Amino acid sequence: MNILAIESSCDETAAAVLSRTESGFAVRASVVASQIETHRLYGGVVPEIASRAHIEAVSAVTYEAMERASASLSDIDLVAVTAQPGLIGALLVGVNFAKSLAAANHIPLVAVDHIKGHIAAAYLGAEVPKPPFLAMALSGGHTAFYLVESYTDYRVVGTTRDDAIGESFDKIGRLIGIPYPAGAGFDRLAAEGFLAATGKENAPLSLYRKSAAYKDKTMALPSPALSDGSLDFSFSGLKTAAINLLHRFEQSGTTLDRPLFAARYTYEAVEAVAKKTEEALSRHAVTSLVMAGGVAANSHLRKRIAEVAKKAGVQLFIPSLSLCGDNAAMIGAQGYYEYLAGHTAASSLNASAEDSIV
Ligand code: KG4
Ligand code: ZN
Repeated sequence: MNILAIESSCDETAAAVLSRTESGFAVRASVVASQIETHRLYGGVVPEIASRAHIEAVSAVTYEAMERASASLSDIDLVAVTAQPGLIGALLVGVNFAKSLAAANHIPLVAVDHIKGHIAAAYLGAEVPKPPFLAMALSGGHTAFYLVESYTDYRVVGTTRDDAIGESFDKIGRLIGIPYPAGAGFDRLAAEGFLAATGKENAPLSLYRKSAAYKDKTMALPSPALSDGSLDFSFSGLKTAAINLLHRFEQSGTTLDRPLFAARYTYEAVEAVAKKTEEALSRHAVTSLVMAGGVAANSHLRKRIAEVAKKAGVQLFIPSLSLCGDNAAMIGAQGYYEYLAGHTAASSLNASAEDSIV
């Protein structure tokens, strides 16, 4: 089966062509047109500008994916499109484009949830997790744990009560001069900080915890892991404390050690995810764990969650770096399972900004 997938939920217009055979998925082409440079001028995504940029890009990006895959529309058996959640204007561009393409060429259409899509990026590797498994979606808009009961049935078992982890990296990153989106720059700055604190390249976080830098009270930050017995987080508490810390440094005229600050912030964010992952794995009898979404690209988090998975004896699946951020290949993978489950979309399909997994 050949699948054409389209993604336009935020600031990336993406199209991909996948083939599904008995041996799994083969991504024949995956094209991502990023609007980041445009939004960077404003320090974040401007929804109206995003919608317009998707309109301008969607045809060319789809055409390029088809061309790179040497596919024609007559080869396509299924069109998959992200229908929720995301920016409504942005989603509508992809949904209407996919609907027209599918209708005009008599191809079945499936609507895909963006978060299920992120997790489905883990189905594109050589080995694939089999339900039931535990999955984490860590992105600019989401921070949640799901019990994946089948490839299409998800249950939320933990979530953030306010900000998402990626959003918090972006906001605090901006305050310390890292351009939008700050995640990757934050990751690199934190690596400098961990090195300065431990004197070791790639030191485990347990070593950082023993360092003098970690004991420096002027840099103290709270954990975003809620201590109420739930698997939930509050990233706004961490963010507010970090903003206050930055103000204190500014007001006292003390120069902030940016790498050490980035390391401390990253430590608290990563340890919180690690702690809740351990807890989630102790509550749910699974043998596989998936970590997906843009923040799953974080090098410190990848290393720490690998330790957690090893200790718990579960197999860890993290998509390759290029599949952690928004792309359409992941939407095609989830689209395949939605199609198998009989979830074909009608011509009345609409986009929705809201989460569907609740
Ligand atoms: O999944 P994604 O591409 O888009 C959403 O669905 O939100 O995630 C984007 C988020 C941004 O907040 C970005 O700063 C963050 O992922 N991100 C990272 C890293 N790379 C991207 N956060 C931490 N460390 C990274 N290496
Ligand atoms: Zn995303």
